Amino acid sequence: MSAADATGLTFRQNYFSDPAAWAALVSLLDNTFGIDIDPLRALGGADPTSMPFGWFSDEGVLAANLSAFAMPFVFNGRLVNAAGLQSGAVRPPWRGRGLYRDVTQKALVWCETQGFEVVILSTDKPDLYEPYGFRSLPLHKYVGPAPAVSGATGARTLQPRDVDDLALLQSLLKNRKPVSETLAVAGSSAMFLINTQLDADVRLSYLEESAAAIAWKMPVAGHFVLLDVVATDIPPLAAILAGLGIQATSVETLFRPDRLGWSGEAAPYEGGTRLMLRGLEEMSLDRPAMLSPMADF
Ligand SMILES: CC(C)(COP(=O)(O)OP(=O)(O)OC[C@H]1O[C@@H](n2cnc3c(N)ncnc32)[C@H](O)[C@@H]1OP(=O)(O)O)[C@@H](O)C(=O)NCCC(=O)NCCS
Repeated sequence: MSAADATGLTFRQNYFSDPAAWAALVSLLDNTFGIDIDPLRALGGADPTSMPFGWFSDEGVLAANLSAFAMPFVFNGRLVNAAGLQSGAVRPPWRGRGLYRDVTQKALVWCETQGFEVVILSTDKPDLYEPYGFRSLPLHKYVGPAPAVSGATGARTLQPRDVDDLALLQSLLKNRKPVSETLAVAGSSAMFLINTQLDADVRLSYLEESAAAIAWKMPVAGHFVLLDVVATDIPPLAAILAGLGIQATSVETLFRPDRLGWSGEAAPYEGGTRLMLRGLEEMSLDRPAMLSPMADF
């Protein structure tokens, strides 16, 4: 769909099949946030449910954009039919003219027309979205002593850019069990895959015995940070540590560890951005929780 307008810009929706328009989005996000999403092309492509809304100049520059996509997630044990909003940006010369308001309204109308019951986004500018009925969710990670671990069962590093590893990861992601009953994505494969490329400290390992992909970090010796577990059956934390051959004294999980056979203490998560929801008006999280950073969008 496209429509010229008095600003001299042209509105386009659902433009990902046009390589030049995709490149214009890559450039907008790189210039605005310093994030390179182009590796997605080698990782199975953008989320197939993506619906971008953008204003383009005659030269093909993307002046303003906001993208919606299907992001089903579990909330208090219930699978919610949600849309996520991401890639929201306006280039400096075109700011302050209502372009972001325009793409936000268009994206929200589309979400309603598609029947999504909830819209979710992550932002460092909550004021921008409160007028549309979005509210922030408090986020908590879990911290505690490492469980006792016996033996070492073995794991190998996964390289998402390797064809075989990518196929394995995609299959695990497609069939994954949400990592928590309280708050966790049910799919979001493209987000997981691009997030493996955006943070060089994230390590990705495959535990053969549990058929599980583990996203983790070890920022300081003895302190294990678990970001996500992708599997049809989530293995216990002790099995994960044994599989990775890690001797840790303390553990931090960046999701509620209700399926890990381990419980830490909830602690506020200061991630710099807020998770905001529109919909589920009466509901708040019944337990402290956060969405895994591997679902960041
Ligand atoms: C934030 C940003 C998208 C705004 O774009 P814009 O085209 O200038 O916004 P608009 O002119 O459409 O303004 C829309 C509304 O947002 C408000 N607004 C603009 N910038 C804002 C900000 N930084 N914080 C809060 N509100 C803001 C405007 O006052 C306006 O309010 P109104 O609808 O009540 O009049 C743009 O400055 C940008 O790309 N910033 C860097 C990337 C970013 O922060 N993206 C959003 C992160 S999720």
